[in-house]
Amino acid sequence: MLQLLTIAGARPQFIKYAAVSRALRNFSANKITDKLLHTGQHYDDLMSEVFFRELNIKKPDYHLETGSSTPATQTARILEGTENILLQLKPDAVLVFGDTNSTLAGTLAAVKLRIPVIHIEAGLRSFRKEMPEEINRVLTDHSSTLLCCPTRLAMDNLHNEGFKSGTGKAQLNKPATVLTGDVMYDLFLEQCAQELPSNPAYATLKSGNPYLLVTLHRAGNTDETETFTNLLEGIMLTTEKLQMPAYIPMHPRTMNAINLLEENSTVLRFLKHPRILLAAPASYPVFLRLLQDCTMVMTDAGGVQKEAFFSRKSCVILREETEWVELTDAGYAALAGSQPDKIAAEAERMIRVSISTQASLYGDGNAAKHICREIEYHFG
Ligand code: UD1
Repeated sequence: MLQLLTIAGARPQFIKYAAVSRALRNFSANKITDKLLHTGQHYDDLMSEVFFRELNIKKPDYHLETGSSTPATQTARILEGTENILLQLKPDAVLVFGDTNSTLAGTLAAVKLRIPVIHIEAGLRSFRKEMPEEINRVLTDHSSTLLCCPTRLAMDNLHNEGFKSGTGKAQLNKPATVLTGDVMYDLFLEQCAQELPSNPAYATLKSGNPYLLVTLHRAGNTDETETFTNLLEGIMLTTEKLQMPAYIPMHPRTMNAINLLEENSTVLRFLKHPRILLAAPASYPVFLRLLQDCTMVMTDAGGVQKEAFFSRKSCVILREETEWVELTDAGYAALAGSQPDKIAAEAERMIRVSISTQASLYGDGNAAKHICREIEYHFG
C-alpha cells in the first residue's frame, strides 16, 4: 500500500482536495492510503471548516494551527511543523496543490527528506516575481517529482524551463510532467449535478435581479493603498455605468485592508454605496449558486476566473496578467488592471460577451482520476 500525505491549508486547496480525495477513495482505495495535514494557514470557519462540512471531506489527520503572520514566518512555521509529521509518518510521497505558502513549505519539508512531491496545478506562470504566488509555484515545480498540469500551456511553460517529457517512472532527479486536466472542473461538474443552495444575494436584491459577482483578495491588490482604492473606485464606477449592483463576498484580508483605511474617502464612499453589497465569505456550493445567477464576474482570484468560464459567465480580471491565458486568448475574460476607467470600460465591453461553449480547455472532468492513475504508476 502506498502511503500518501496531502498538505492543504488555504481555501482553494480544500476545494481541490475534495475532488482528489474522492477519486482516491473511488479508484485507488486498494492501492493508496491518504492522510491529510491541515497547515492552519486559513483558520476561520468560513475560510476552512465550512468546506470540510459541505464538501464531505474527512477531518484532517494532522493540524498545525499555524495561523497568520508575515510570509516568511508563516512559511517557516509550516515547514517546521510538516517536517515533524513527515519524520513520524514516513510517507512514500507528498501531495501539494497550487501556489500558497502552505504549498511551498510542504514541498520544501518533503524534498529535504528526499520524499517525492506531487504538485497539482503545476506549470502555471504569471511571470511576475512580485507576486508571492509566483515564487511559490516556481520553487514548488522545481522541487517536485510528479508535476500534474491542468492545461497544455502549463505543460509548455515547464518544457520551456527545461522539464523533459520522458518515459519511465519519475524520480527526484528525473521529474515527470503530465497533462491531467483541472481538478476544479471535476468538482464543479460534480457539485452542479446536485441541488445548489438558495441565492443569498436575492435576500437583498429582488429575486431575478441582475448583479455582478465580485471577489478581491490578492496581496498585490489589497496591501498597497493606491492600488486598493483604485480598485474600489473601479468597482463603484462599473456599478454606476452598468446600473447594476455588485455582490462581494469578502476575504478577511480585504476586510482588514478596509478596516485599516476606514478614514479614507474612497473607502467611506465604498462602504455607503447603494450598489455595493458586502457579504461574508461564501461556502463552495453557495458560491456556485452566486455564479450561476450572476450577470458577470469581476475577480483577482485564479480559480474564480475558471469557475466563471465553467458557468458560462464572462469575467473582468482585476489584475495586469493572468495564469489562465487560454481564457483571455479566447475572449472569455479580459485583463483590466487597477485603473478605474479601464475597469469600467472592460466591464462595459465584457458584459456583451456570451459564452456558448465549455470547450475542453480544462480536461474531461476526470482530472483527479487521471492523477490517481499517475500516482499509482510512478510511485506504486
Ligand atoms: C492565500 C494565498 C493565495 C490564495 C488565497 C486564497 C499565499 C501567499 N497566498 O492568500 O494565493 O489565493 O490564500 O484565499 O499563500 N485571515 C483571516 N482568517 C483566515 C485566513 C486569513 O482572518 O482564516 C486574514 C489574516 O489577517 C491574514 C490575511 O487574512 O493576515 C491573509 O491570509 P494569508 O493566509 O496570509 O493569505 P491569503 O490572503 O488568504
